[in-house]
Amino acid sequence: MTAMADDRILTPGARSDEGDQDGAQDALRPGDFDQYIGQGRVKENLRIFVEAARRRGEALDHVLLSGPPGLGKTTLAHIIATELGVRMHVTSGPALEKKGDLAGILTNLEPHDVLFIDEVHRLSAVVEENLYPAMEDRRFDVVIGDGVYARSYPIELQPFTLVGATTRAGLLTSPMRDRFGIVEHLEFYTPPELAQIIRRSAALMGVTLDDSAADVLSRRCRGTPRIANRLLRRVRDIAEVRHDGVVSPEVADLALQQLDVDKAGFDRMDRRLLLTLIDKFDGGPVGLDTLAAAIGEEKQTVEDVYEPYLLKEGYLKRTHRGRVATRRAYLHFERPYGGVQGSLL
Ligand code: ADE
Repeated sequence: MTAMADDRILTPGARSDEGDQDGAQDALRPGDFDQYIGQGRVKENLRIFVEAARRRGEALDHVLLSGPPGLGKTTLAHIIATELGVRMHVTSGPALEKKGDLAGILTNLEPHDVLFIDEVHRLSAVVEENLYPAMEDRRFDVVIGDGVYARSYPIELQPFTLVGATTRAGLLTSPMRDRFGIVEHLEFYTPPELAQIIRRSAALMGVTLDDSAADVLSRRCRGTPRIANRLLRRVRDIAEVRHDGVVSPEVADLALQQLDVDKAGFDRMDRRLLLTLIDKFDGGPVGLDTLAAAIGEEKQTVEDVYEPYLLKEGYLKRTHRGRVATRRAYLHFERPYGGVQGSLL
């Protein structure tokens, strides 16, 4: 175990990692800024702010990290705590149900500790209101009694850093957003960055991986390190059982076919979304509610998990009248593109 993992405190109801089912994420997580690949500007900004807080002997300002799932928000929070030399307490918006849950966590913080709240946009109104004085004045108000007999007793808290993570900063209330002194947005990774991450992970896992196999994987993991690492593990399994254990570009390609990941890196759900749009709705425009219902997925999952990559890569467009499949999407699925809908927009 690393010092980083030792120092992590999971509060009740918190998940141990960002929903990664196999839990193998920790072993591959970079432990400090030097090991962290990509997110250049975000990383350098955080490095400076952490260093400045350390030099002044102060707690780091509160940090908001936003961006699609799997890009490293939790990893960066761990690194911030490690580089500050403090403990990190992990919880999430939905896990903090009552004011008392928050009180328990806040009063247990040591000076300069990091409190990581995943899905910070999903805090209940009452928890959020009680977080404001904690963030601003290091104060937690305990209310005793009811009605006219109610009395508020402030508890002084240790200086701490709240690191909030969200898939969409736009979902945060503005008073909440305004209380973060450092706001950073994570973008999808480039294929060269992903190839570097994949090579690093392969080395840590003891997998023999060709550089060109890393390139193949890097272009088919939706710009997302978590997906890259998941594919690498499965590709390794296939290479070991069906081949000689070495991940060559040919083996990587065969394994990705076996895993139903296509040339663009789309999984079954990406294809379902785009093909439903093309085949059932003539390419759109179609409203998010209708599209989500047609593919049997939650609206929020469609918006947070599937759409960002498709939008960024230009397979999908959001218009005021709804979602539209682009020419690139038609070409990918070898469907004739009429551009009919486009002329109406
Ligand atoms: N593993 C997952 N994300 C990573 C990153 N950004 N850098 C290095 N290794 C990683």
